[in-house]
Amino acid sequence: MPLTPSTIRERTRKYAESNEKSVYHTILNEAAEPIGNAQLFKIDPWNRNAELGLWIGEKSAWGKGYGTEVIGILVQFAFNRLNLHKVYLTVDSDNLRAIRCYEKAGFHHDGILRDEVFKNGQYVNRIYMSVLKTDLIQT
Ligand SMILES: CC(C)(COP(=O)(O)OP(=O)(O)OC[C@H]1O[C@@H](n2cnc3c(N)ncnc32)[C@H](O)[C@@H]1OP(=O)(O)O)[C@@H](O)C(=O)NCCC(=O)NCCS
Repeated sequence: MPLTPSTIRERTRKYAESNEKSVYHTILNEAAEPIGNAQLFKIDPWNRNAELGLWIGEKSAWGKGYGTEVIGILVQFAFNRLNLHKVYLTVDSDNLRAIRCYEKAGFHHDGILRDEVFKNGQYVNRIYMSVLKTDLIQT
């Protein structure tokens, strides 16, 4: 559903006040203008994993390498600063641009959630992907 600025502010406030462990970043371009956001959320210190989320809202900023750079920074932050073992995510199977970015960062295809999303009149699979700290040490 469409989000208004006040809805986003309210969600951000609730997010900040919740007990869920997360880190939330705003992505800036070279001119320091905000173009999107990236998060590590559901940070689980016992099992040492977290989910990654990424959104570049400015379409004019797509295809310029920002996504690839941000994923690399977040993954390094997760492994080297938060001392996590695994970062995971889900992505629609038709989001080839995002999948390519995740693959470049070392994410593996772990499995498929069949017909998980209904959009544009049809069901689409979601792909569960993850990268382990040890994956990056071995490569
Ligand atoms: C997905 C997203 C984060 C990617 O960021 P980006 O800055 O556009 O991506 P980059 O420029 O770093 O890299 C894009 C890569 O995808 C490739 N690509 C683009 N379109 C593609 C397609 N249709 N099929 C396969 N690869 C494609 C590019 O060639 C590039 O790979 P390369 O460097 O090997 O050539 C961004 O487009 C976005 O936020 N989209 C909307 C929200 C979204 O989908 N978020 C992810 C939810 S899981």
